[in-house]
Amino acid sequence: MLHLKKIQYQPATAEEKILKNITLQTEPGEALIISGPSGSGKTSLLEIISGLASPNKGSIYWDNSLINSYKRRSICGLVFQFPERHFIGLTISQELKIGHRRISGDMQSKVLKEVGLEGISPKDLPENLSGGQQRRLAIAVQLIRSPKILLLDEPTAGLDWSVRDEILELIKKLSKDQLLIIVTHEPDLFAKWQVSNYRLKDGNLKKVSK
Ligand SMILES: Nc1ncnc2c1ncn2[C@@H]1O[C@H](COP(=O)(O)OP(=O)(O)OP(=O)(O)O)[C@@H](O)[C@H]1O
Ligand SMILES: [Mg+2]
Repeated sequence: MLHLKKIQYQPATAEEKILKNITLQTEPGEALIISGPSGSGKTSLLEIISGLASPNKGSIYWDNSLINSYKRRSICGLVFQFPERHFIGLTISQELKIGHRRISGDMQSKVLKEVGLEGISPKDLPENLSGGQQRRLAIAVQLIRSPKILLLDEPTAGLDWSVRDEILELIKKLSKDQLLIIVTHEPDLFAKWQVSNYRLKDGNLKKVSK
């Protein structure tokens, strides 16, 4: 499981420490919700966990082994906020291949089905999908890499309520297969689930009771 130990983070261009002393230990099958004020460092924390950034101090373990940023990139799938704005594939198939270069047609169909996009042609253009379908495709791009940890940054942002419920349903289903870490401004949306709620504030992460 994931264990963050005394993580401190201050990128060279930042005036202050963004993360001061983050310690976190997850349980098997756990889904984590992280909320906190704008600018509190939620996205930075996801970038550190997923290996896109490295902490100045502290260590990160997966199943009791110390993991460097390279290893973290290989076991994590990070879906950024508004991921559809960053699609670069000309087709759905090309977009999926960004997650996994040598992916077979069968595997593409399997992962599209997993996110509820069965019936969509991989030759279609990502921009022709609806907002909710685009969000599903962005999740599929990460799932195709079979991540052990799936990190979602504001997965419901900018979606209208009916689509939001569908995406929540999908995320709930995914929480059975990998460690889910969800950053959200709307922790109440997840209140009915079995989740652990954390709040990031002043560079520290605290567990909150519901
Ligand atoms: N590479 C960087 N260099 C300098 N400052 C940075 C860097 N990355 C993030 N910051 C600053 O660190 C703070 C935390 O940013 P971050 O994007 O992690 O916050 P957030 O909690 O995700 O905010 P939001 O809720 O608005 O998405 C902000 O003040 C941001 O400007
Ligand atoms: Mg953010």
